[in-house]
Amino acid sequence: MNNFQYHNPVRILFGKGQIAQLSKQIPAEAKVMITYGGGSIFKNGVYEQVKTALKAHQIVEFGGIEANPTYETLMQAVALGRAEHVDFLLAVGGGSVLDGTKFIAAAIPFTGEDAWQIVGNRAKITTALPLGSVLTLPATGSEMNYYAVISRKETQEKKGLGNPLVYPKFSILDPETTFSLPPRQIANGIADAFTHVMEQYMTYPVRAEMQDRMAEAVLLTLIDEGPKMMASPTDYDAAANVMWAATMALNGLLAAGVPTDWATHQIGHELTALHGIDHARTLAAVLPHLLEIKKDTKREKLIQYAKRVWQLSGTDDELVAGAIQKTADFYESLGIPTKASAYPIGEETVREVVKRFTERGMNFGERADITPEVVGEILELSL
Ligand code: NZQ
Ligand code: ZN
Repeated sequence: MNNFQYHNPVRILFGKGQIAQLSKQIPAEAKVMITYGGGSIFKNGVYEQVKTALKAHQIVEFGGIEANPTYETLMQAVALGRAEHVDFLLAVGGGSVLDGTKFIAAAIPFTGEDAWQIVGNRAKITTALPLGSVLTLPATGSEMNYYAVISRKETQEKKGLGNPLVYPKFSILDPETTFSLPPRQIANGIADAFTHVMEQYMTYPVRAEMQDRMAEAVLLTLIDEGPKMMASPTDYDAAANVMWAATMALNGLLAAGVPTDWATHQIGHELTALHGIDHARTLAAVLPHLLEIKKDTKREKLIQYAKRVWQLSGTDDELVAGAIQKTADFYESLGIPTKASAYPIGEETVREVVKRFTERGMNFGERADITPEVVGEILELSL
């Protein structure tokens, strides 16, 4: 097992009716900016619950944070937050609203010239406004981690930022808030969480038995409970299990002490940046093909995954092939295509993505052997 430090300060309030606890989590004297997306919170009663819980607080609202939140929109929230002198942010929505709010929290007190520099961690931040969240879409893990992924329309970029200063102080996870999710977003959430686990697990063994077993537990939970949530979106227990699994998938615990391979996300972000494809769908168009190209270096873990997660048997070669097929089948079972040709991705996109990675001079993968050329091979296989 590799050395690690692990610290996660996010308080989780999980379960029915937990939004009512909001006022106890936010200082009484705080002026709170509530941030939200395109309006789902007005249709499912979440907005009402939040407003009722915070009736004694001073409130400012900023809506309209889009899926794949943009710098352009978020800077409007930064201007409002500065003008109103808000001192606490409350994100109410999915990963995009949470991520956007993390950026706003860092950007409001930022004194540098160009707040876009915060994204990609090119400018150092030394402070951020405190934030909390009410999560309505199980998927990203943003509710319990310190990452945010922000897009810029002007330059068609999508980049991450990560800093412990933007950990939420608390996140409220009430599975009932997910009952209004359309099937496409439920599927996306399950696929995203599944991929997060795979990227922290599907590398090479380092005898990290706890981490492996925990990763397998999250995968098995998503495989068992995901289809139940898809079939009955108001099945509380299915939603609760998927919600907690998605949080566990990316709160740092699975990555502690093990090698990771975030290449699928890196490639996926470029596909969203260029074509606006849903985040989770880009991952499905990449991971099975990445596994095929990297099946020799990931062989031992593919065999372990085939046996323990998919209960396959056979020769080692059969297990490797079966593991990759089962992964693709799982995305497809959620209604998510695994071939790039199902999306607006063609040869030109492949060339552009390879060019972007070449310019950045970065390799990915647990052995840093996913070079820009290998990225091209993975995408070619997906076409
Ligand atoms: O905007 P509203 O009206 O709220 O509608 C949203 C949006 O259209 C809707 N929705 C959310 N909760 C709902 C609901 N509709 C009905 N009922 C509800 N309860 O769902 C749509 C998608 O929302 P979004 O927040 O974009 O989805 P998701 O949670 O999948 O977030 C995706 C974003 O997170 C980033 C992705 O790159 C993408 O930008 N990620 C963040 C990560 C992190 N912070 O650690 C890691 C991930 O890998 C990912 O990159
Ligand atoms: Zn993701």
